[in-house]
Amino acid sequence: MRAALLEPTGRPLTLVDDIVVADPGPGDVVVKVHACGVCHSDLSNVNGTYPVPGPIVLGHEAAGIVEAVGAGVTTVAPGDRVIISPIATCGHCYQCLRGDYGVCEQAMSVTTGTFIDGSSPLSRAGATVFRGLGVGGFGEYSLVHASAAVRIADDTPLDVACVIGCSIQTGVGAVLNTAKVTPGSTVLVMGLGGVGIAIVQGARLAGASRIIVSDPVSARRDAAARFGATDAIDPTTDDVISQVLAITGGGVDYAFEAVGKGALVDQAVWTTRPGGMIVMVGAAPITDAVTINPAVVFMASEKKLVGSFLGSCNSRRDIPRLLSLWRAGHLDFEGMITHRRPIDEVNEAFADMEAGVGIRTVLTF
Ligand SMILES: NC(=O)c1ccc[n+]([C@@H]2O[C@H](COP(=O)([O-])OP(=O)(O)OC[C@H]3O[C@@H](n4cnc5c(N)ncnc54)[C@H](O)[C@@H]3O)[C@@H](O)[C@H]2O)c1
Ligand SMILES: [Zn+2]
Ligand SMILES: [Zn+2]
Repeated sequence: MRAALLEPTGRPLTLVDDIVVADPGPGDVVVKVHACGVCHSDLSNVNGTYPVPGPIVLGHEAAGIVEAVGAGVTTVAPGDRVIISPIATCGHCYQCLRGDYGVCEQAMSVTTGTFIDGSSPLSRAGATVFRGLGVGGFGEYSLVHASAAVRIADDTPLDVACVIGCSIQTGVGAVLNTAKVTPGSTVLVMGLGGVGIAIVQGARLAGASRIIVSDPVSARRDAAARFGATDAIDPTTDDVISQVLAITGGGVDYAFEAVGKGALVDQAVWTTRPGGMIVMVGAAPITDAVTINPAVVFMASEKKLVGSFLGSCNSRRDIPRLLSLWRAGHLDFEGMITHRRPIDEVNEAFADMEAGVGIRTVLTF
């Protein structure tokens, strides 16, 4: 198959057409990918912020049509439209049974680029090729467990709905599933890429009374206002902590970090009221640390510092739910997709992301 490949030597990604996809084993599904969004986590893999094994086909925000199914697959059939989820919630491991779907044991593929047994269905000239977050959406075909291929209605536009795969599940899920934001709450969102904009949308949906946003890129602050932000801060000229305290008179109920910088988590702690919650959504470099003094978090303050992985989503429950909200006009996917490019322009898409141009780029085959 054709795919954009990241070699162990690094950038740029190269387009190749000789990747071999294994036949689907029992319980597997092969999806012909139609569209895949570009996420900052892909960029972190490309620039080494989050090292991955290579060579690898990145991309994990994908939608397509089922091409073939392995023995025993009953949830989808060839011809079905699906969203591919980076976290193929198994539903029966220790974490799943306790409702912690974002840390399902099967989700290990997210970090290794392989199935849980260490294998990969992709190869090139006999050598293993890995898949970004267990998906590999920058390739023509993706082979995943059936639990990762969530069926959607036949009239769903794949080049729009694909953003559910990562940014919408992550952002809206962080608000509804992880934080459980309640109506009337005040919210801060730091970072307004695809993930941050999805958090803004989730906060509006949850009935937040104040949605304060912070991003150095003015066009992204303007875009956030269209998605429901009520107040905007430029962190390059304004002090975020004092601005948030002034706007809310004592701190927000919920602060979301959607940039990926340890120092911003420290900052977010100071922007929340006593009893408030700080949600870490951004994927900071593994060398970053959060240095906050414990007393600041617990003593007479009872703040809650929580992580959120793919919005704590159970994809088979949440993807249909998020699509229904989009169909009812409560979520806007089209407005987040500012660029569409053929897969051949994957490197240009990364350059746009680094320059803060647009919000989300969707690559198509
Ligand atoms: N938790 C998860 O499951 C999950 C899922 C997807 C992405 N992520 C991570 O979320 C983060 C955001 O992803 P994205 O695709 O939206 O990225 P993006 O590059 O599109 O957006 C990041 C935004 O942060 C802004 N920013 C930079 N410095 C800032 C600062 N000091 N204050 C405020 N804003 C600042 C940038 O201008 C940009 O608009 C990344 O770290 C990504 O790896 C996490
Ligand atoms: Zn992502
Ligand atoms: Zn599980």
